[in-house]
Amino acid sequence: MEKILELKNLRTHYATERGTARAVDGVSFSIARNRTLGVVGESGSGKSVTALSIMRLIPSPPGFFAGGEILWKGRDLLRLPEEEMRRVRGNEIAMIFQEPMSSLNPVFTCGRQITEQILIHRDIPAAEARERAIELLRQVGIADPARRFSAWPHELSGGMRQRVMIAMALSCSPSLLIADEPTTALDVTVQAQILDLIARLQADTGMSVMLITHDFGVVAELCEDVLVMYGSRVVEKGPVREIFSNPLHPYTRGLLKSIPRIGSKEERLHVIEGSVPSAVDVPPGCRFAPRCPMADERCRRELPELVSYAPGHETACWKAG
Ligand SMILES: Nc1ncnc2c1ncn2[C@@H]1O[C@H](COP(=O)(O)OP(=O)(O)O)[C@@H](O)[C@H]1O
Ligand SMILES: [Mg+2]
Repeated sequence: MEKILELKNLRTHYATERGTARAVDGVSFSIARNRTLGVVGESGSGKSVTALSIMRLIPSPPGFFAGGEILWKGRDLLRLPEEEMRRVRGNEIAMIFQEPMSSLNPVFTCGRQITEQILIHRDIPAAEARERAIELLRQVGIADPARRFSAWPHELSGGMRQRVMIAMALSCSPSLLIADEPTTALDVTVQAQILDLIARLQADTGMSVMLITHDFGVVAELCEDVLVMYGSRVVEKGPVREIFSNPLHPYTRGLLKSIPRIGSKEERLHVIEGSVPSAVDVPPGCRFAPRCPMADERCRRELPELVSYAPGHETACWKAG
């Protein structure tokens, strides 16, 4: 399978008063062309910092790249001059965030924001950009797009705003769309609609999608591949079906058990005890060891690396196999 993006041993750190926060600490994975990769893990596991690193949107200081490579169509994004990176951002890789209101400018109409986004990257007449913006609004399922073109962000619901953000992201036909918990701020029915929309757009355009979520149920429905992150590292990755039928890492098994079942009265059937470690005081061994029911002395002492157990299926666990 052709890799469109490949991270090799990426380390993104932040200088803080308490010491160096190793927000991403040796992360390697790839995204295949035309496929959807789900990235799962509890809050604080390094998902957003990984995504922001790919976009090179890490504020520096306090953030800095401490090592590794981000290969995009063979070129290392970390070595690209800022001007070239700007062309990649928006033209080739686009990102949507959790809270659409904070990403939209309240003083411009939605249509104008999409139009300007198009004009930054394309040398076309304004009238044509406007037509394209209306077409994009239609494509993301906004009814009466010519009228909605003139709407202000505050006039739209959260779901509608997220659709506008998706329209902006699509305005330059990216080869990769990164969606960082795009539905967390929305209510459940709207969440399903937005996820359906992303799946449909992926199928229609053939773009690759990196979908960040803390919900394994969403991954099962939308993704072909999955990456499980914990403590700023990848603990398991592989094809979705393989991970669901044969999860190898105790953390992955814990997450799978915590998928809420339809009709279940309890929100979570099983919650993993304990909490995600701080990125500042990193223990020497496996980062999951303090919460792991299987951990022994070696797990607490030595950091496991990813090892392949089946085609495309890797995990970093001393107890796997
Ligand atoms: N600006 C920052 N300064 C210091 N530490 C940070 C900063 N941003 C994120 N981190 C730390 O990096 C780790 C990963 O964060 P993040 O990628 O946001 O997690 P996730 O998106 O999986 O919830 C966390 O421990 C977080 O506290
Ligand atoms: Mg996040």
